[in-house]
Amino acid sequence: MRFDILSLFPGFFASPLGESIIGKAVKKGLIEVQLHNIRDFAADKHRTTDDSPYGGGAGMVMKVEPIVSALEAIKGPYERRKVMLTTPQGIPFTQKTAKELAELEGIIIICGRYEGFDERIRAFVDIEVSIGDYILTGGEIPALAVIDSVARFIPGVLGDEDSLRTDSFTRGLLEYPQYTRPEEFRGMRVPGELLSGNHGLIDRWRRKKSLKRTLQRRPDLIESAELTEEDRALLGEIKKELSGGA
Ligand code: ADE
Repeated sequence: MRFDILSLFPGFFASPLGESIIGKAVKKGLIEVQLHNIRDFAADKHRTTDDSPYGGGAGMVMKVEPIVSALEAIKGPYERRKVMLTTPQGIPFTQKTAKELAELEGIIIICGRYEGFDERIRAFVDIEVSIGDYILTGGEIPALAVIDSVARFIPGVLGDEDSLRTDSFTRGLLEYPQYTRPEEFRGMRVPGELLSGNHGLIDRWRRKKSLKRTLQRRPDLIESAELTEEDRALLGEIKKELSGGA
């Protein structure tokens, strides 16, 4: 899969894309990331990429022409490719969005700066995403979040494909607690169920913990999760336990 990044600060990406799992995916050719400096597509001699807003007001607005020139210059033979804008006004970027985007041949991500974009850029954009209800100084960190989360769905990127299955959110719930050696640390013991060797018991324990954690931390996710009859029974048990019953 190919990612094209349009940014005023392409240097921002060198280390995050060179390290760890994403770094390996790039080296193996499982993902390709092409960086494009928007300034290179500015036509005037000062290579201007922003200007003051019509109607007045504070701050600068990113100009539309350099970005559209960049988009036109990097068009390739890719049919299944989308142009993405990262802004706090976009739709919430979720695990579901990441999974859907991983089916594409490529994503072109336009990273914003300053107070925002000339509105007309939106005529050239397929999807506008926000990575959360807070304001960052630019779209570079959101672009990295998108690349990282989408890349995880590309076969071969994760060493252990199993972790995709059990990830938080993959099944609509938060992940259950995990432990590794030692069996006891400063008086805190690994739960007996995990040491039992009984896989039925372990699975049930994990499912229950996953439901409990989701109920306590993200009750909104319980509403939309696909729950089995057994899950509903477990939830009943959890609610009873939490309210001090049984
Ligand atoms: N640009 C600035 N803040 C952002 C956010 N929260 N999500 C996506 N793009 C942004």
